[in-house]
Formats: sequence, C-alpha cells, structure tokens
Amino acid sequence: MKLWRAALWLFLPGMARCMEPVSLSLGAISIIAPLFSYYWFRGSPHDCKPLERAINTTALQVDFDDKIYGQHLARLVVLKGVSGFMKNKNPKKPLTLSFHGWTGTGKNYVSQILAKNIYPDGMNSQFVHQFVATLHFPHAHLIDKYKDQLQAQIRNGVKACETSIFIFDEVDKMLPGLIDAIKPFLDYYENIDGVSYRKAIFIFLSNTGGGKISELALDFWKNGKKREDIKLSDVEHHLSLSAFNKKESGFWHSSLIDKNLIDYFVPFLPLEFEHVKMCVRAELQHRGHAVNDALVTKVAKEMTFYPKEERVYSVKGCKVVTAKLDYYL
Ligand SMILES: *[C@@H]1O[C@H](CO)[C@@H](O)[C@H](O)[C@H]1NC(C)=O
Repeated sequence: MKLWRAALWLFLPGMARCMEPVSLSLGAISIIAPLFSYYWFRGSPHDCKPLERAINTTALQVDFDDKIYGQHLARLVVLKGVSGFMKNKNPKKPLTLSFHGWTGTGKNYVSQILAKNIYPDGMNSQFVHQFVATLHFPHAHLIDKYKDQLQAQIRNGVKACETSIFIFDEVDKMLPGLIDAIKPFLDYYENIDGVSYRKAIFIFLSNTGGGKISELALDFWKNGKKREDIKLSDVEHHLSLSAFNKKESGFWHSSLIDKNLIDYFVPFLPLEFEHVKMCVRAELQHRGHAVNDALVTKVAKEMTFYPKEERVYSVKGCKVVTAKLDYYL
C-alpha cells in the first residue's frame, strides 16, 4: 500500500508536465479506481482482528456443538483457553495449544473451526498459516534452510497481523530440532527485534499420546464409567511426565512442555460407533441428502474398530467416512 502511494506521488507530477488537465484526471482515475476497489473489497471482511474482538465464543461454542462429536475435553479446553486469551488485553505470551490424539478424531477440524471463527476465510485467510511437517519440511539435510524459512514466515506473518494463527500439523513427524526454531516466538518476550508475538495463536497437532489416551478411554469403558466423566487431570495423569521425556514415546516437544511454553494440552478421545454415525449423518446433511438411518448404520459398520475383541473405537475415527459414503450414494 505504502509503495503504491509513493509510486503515484512520484508518477503523477511527471505526467502533469506533459498532459493537459482532462486527460490527466482521466488518467489518474483509471489508475486510482481499480486500486481503490481492490483494497476496498480486499479490506473489510478480511482484516486483521484486534484480540478482544477476534472471536465470538458463543458462536464458537455453537460450532463445536454442531460439528465436533465425542470430544468433551477438547471442546472444554479450547473454549476455555481461547476465551481466556481473548479477554486478556495484554497477554504475556502467545496462546499455544497442543492437540493430541489418533487420526480422524477431529484435531484438524477443531483447528479449522477455530480459524474460521476468527477469520471468515478460515484456512484460506492470509492470517492463518499452516505447516505440514512431511509436506513442508521433508528433507533432513535442509533443516537449516527450513529453520530460516519458518522464522521468516512467522516474523512476517505477525508483522502483517499480530493476531495471526499458526498451525503445525504432524508435529510428531517434524525433523528433530526444527521446533527449536520457533521456541523464541512462544516465550515470554515483550518483543523480538521490535516485533511482539504475544497476541498470536500457535496450534500443534500430533498423534503423540494417542495410544495412552485410547488406553484411558478403554479403561473407563471397561469399568462401565461414562466417557464424559473422563477429566483432564485423568489424561494428564495417564500421560505422566516420564512419558513426555521418553524419546521413543514420540513426545517430540518435551522441551516446549518442560519450559511451560504450551498453555493447553488438548486430548482427543478415540471415537465410538455412535460418533461415527453422527459424522455420517452430518455428511449426508451437508450434501443435501435425506438422513436414512439404515444407510447411516451401514456406512458406520464399514469402519474398522479396535481393540480386536471389544471393537469399541474406530481405527480411523471419522476420517474415511466421506469416501465410504461416496460408495453408497
Ligand atoms: C455471537 O454469536 C451468537 C451465536 O451465533 C449470536 O447470537 C450473537 O449475536 C453474536 N454476538 C456478537 C457480538 O456478534
């Protein structure tokens, strides 16, 4: 924007010397009008949001109720974390959420819903940045280059908008050491080289701990206890600190956790038959089909369930529901 303005001011006086007034003003309009409309339309709905107005937590809650199934803990923790962060006019550090659980349990979906509730364009917004470990950082020998790129992207993103959102998918597959490059941004610094990262949101997605979370859920199930009675403290207990420090357990970001840079640990529970049915129903409605219970059950039964004996949880959560449904429609 500033560049364009500067260019115009340099350019127009030069034109004025060699043109009569009418064509000068026509010329100016033909330059300014498209620019003006470009920024006008690009501007308003997609603007960077000040923190305290960034999100309507009631609307977020409604979205979670409508679209996320079987995740009472994730729902609670994300709502609490996000609304607390938004209410704070001067956060001391960026909000950092770490999502844990098996594939298909809704980690990506929750981050998309959160992004969309802050920026209407959701994942397509220029203020929402997504990094997928195996896609963006595949080669071990390029790690130094990746570190530089990652830091530059975060720096430029936050410079453009202090409430930017950064989503890191497949964190458990990230090259060891790469995560160190973002640690400074997550810490309690007032600013780094003149840029403050304190209003940004960082979300980390991983399968890490999925096994432990499943074990816990199964324990509850076997004891005839309600899934909804699983408390965050139960999960944290199960994923005891020793697990975080064991390298082979895949707790890659133990250093982030050690340093208390992760604000919220968000567990995603494995999904049961009933939840898979909810996903099928939602997908049918989304596609404008009538909801047919026989079909819903049929599609849900196509999924594979574990453990072998009890067959309680869907191996892929709701992940392949769409594909299975395609086959029947
Ligand atoms: C927040 O969302 C709720 C539910 O969608 C809506 O009724 C309410 O008007 C919204 N509030 C604001 C301030 O936009």
